[in-house]
Amino acid sequence: MADSTKHVLLIEDEALLRQAVAEQLGDRGYLVEQAGSGEEALARLADFAFDVIITDLRLPGIDGAAVVDAALERYPDIVAIVVTGYGTVKGAVEAIKRGAADFVSKPFQIDELILALNAALERRRLKSENAYLRAQLEERYRFEGLIGKSPSMKRLFQLLETVAATTSTILITGETGTGKEVVARAIHHNSPRRQARFVALNCSAIPETLLEAEIFGHVRGAFTGAIGNRQGRLEQAHKGTLFLDEVGTMSAALQMKLLRVLQEREFERVGDSHTIKVDVRVIAATNSDLLRMVEDGEFREDLYYRLNVIPVQIPPLRDRREDIPLLVQHFLDKLCDASQPPVTVSQEAMRRLMAYGWPGNVRQLENAIERAMAFRGGRGQIEVDDLPPELAAASETPAAAALALPEEGVDLVAFITSIERELIQRSLERTNGNKGQAARLLHLKRTTLVEKLKRFND
Ligand SMILES: Nc1ncnc2c1ncn2[C@@H]1O[C@H](COP(=O)(O)OP(=O)(O)OP(=O)(O)O)[C@@H](O)[C@H]1O
Ligand SMILES: [Mg+2]
Repeated sequence: MADSTKHVLLIEDEALLRQAVAEQLGDRGYLVEQAGSGEEALARLADFAFDVIITDLRLPGIDGAAVVDAALERYPDIVAIVVTGYGTVKGAVEAIKRGAADFVSKPFQIDELILALNAALERRRLKSENAYLRAQLEERYRFEGLIGKSPSMKRLFQLLETVAATTSTILITGETGTGKEVVARAIHHNSPRRQARFVALNCSAIPETLLEAEIFGHVRGAFTGAIGNRQGRLEQAHKGTLFLDEVGTMSAALQMKLLRVLQEREFERVGDSHTIKVDVRVIAATNSDLLRMVEDGEFREDLYYRLNVIPVQIPPLRDRREDIPLLVQHFLDKLCDASQPPVTVSQEAMRRLMAYGWPGNVRQLENAIERAMAFRGGRGQIEVDDLPPELAAASETPAAAALALPEEGVDLVAFITSIERELIQRSLERTNGNKGQAARLLHLKRTTLVEKLKRFND
């Protein structure tokens, strides 16, 4: 790990032992300073922020426990390890209760001490990483219930803020579980309509025959079972927002009626001739390719353009992996009892979470974390084994997953060139040939990209 060097203050009154331990820690890359008494230790702590103190409990004068107290008071994140002599285990337990990270008993092997030290440092690192992530979550990277720090999500938040102020119709597209409904709610709650209702209707969840009455309402006797007059969702959403989910599943007849509402802002209840005017903002969502459906004649072209006044696209999770740690932290916070110590995720488990493809997107990630919380038992850390089995296969990096070293070996230079060529090609495709944008996608200068292209074409 590329962690910077750790500064250790070693406090021990037996000079020979102290010298020996200091040398061995030094051999392992620690920067060690020594103190022969509690008083000396306190003086050193006063003017230097050590990462670690290792102290004998029994010292003449100010004892080890008092040193630990003073160190922790000054530096709450310091790692304190106490060394106990024969018969002072009770003292060690007390030191741990007061905040020491661990203890070793004399006589000890140096490896025993190193092990305790490394484990304590790793715990501290995870703790501060979690604290850091939590602070990030609180500060920025959220818009209503939406979390994200990737460039694409930050752009999305900006767009949402802009469109929320308008009354334009919006079409949200995105794979399943990407957060289409959360986005729709976020727009409503940031719009001038926030005082009025947000009415959601999933068009695919209601049988075709009932959907019409559900949207437009009906009058008594309009059809069998229509006992009284009933308001539809459109009327309920008056002055507010109507969210039409899975809009691609509407029948041709309903598509036509919806088109009229969008054009004229008026409609009739089923079985009635009285025209009702409404002031409703419509947000539609779909996870199917509506444009394809238009081409195939399954969705009205005019309705498509009426809905797609402002397109809002939510990228799949696999295209914004940097959001994964923040989302994981967000779901952990949601699931954890605030009065309990926070649950962390082991580095290996986090690597798997970030390498996986997430076909079910954020919803699937949320479910995976919920499952891991249950599988972890009482442990304070989520490990790889707690993750769903499909993640066990996810290897460290997406690129590495596709790599295999053939029996006969590989021409490294040619291989890397072919990967370079492929990624350049893809970035140009994604940006419709815009070299400036493509270069940015590849973290290259534009001139570098142009040079590379020239070389490929020679
Ligand atoms: N950016 C995000 N930040 C936090 N939570 C999110 C985010 N995106 C999605 N979620 C959570 O993921 C789950 C799925 O979101 P939502 O229901 O909005 O997805 P959807 O796109 O409507 O999916 P479907 O197409 O399957 O209906 C919800 O629990 C939601 O809270
Ligand atoms: Mg949905």
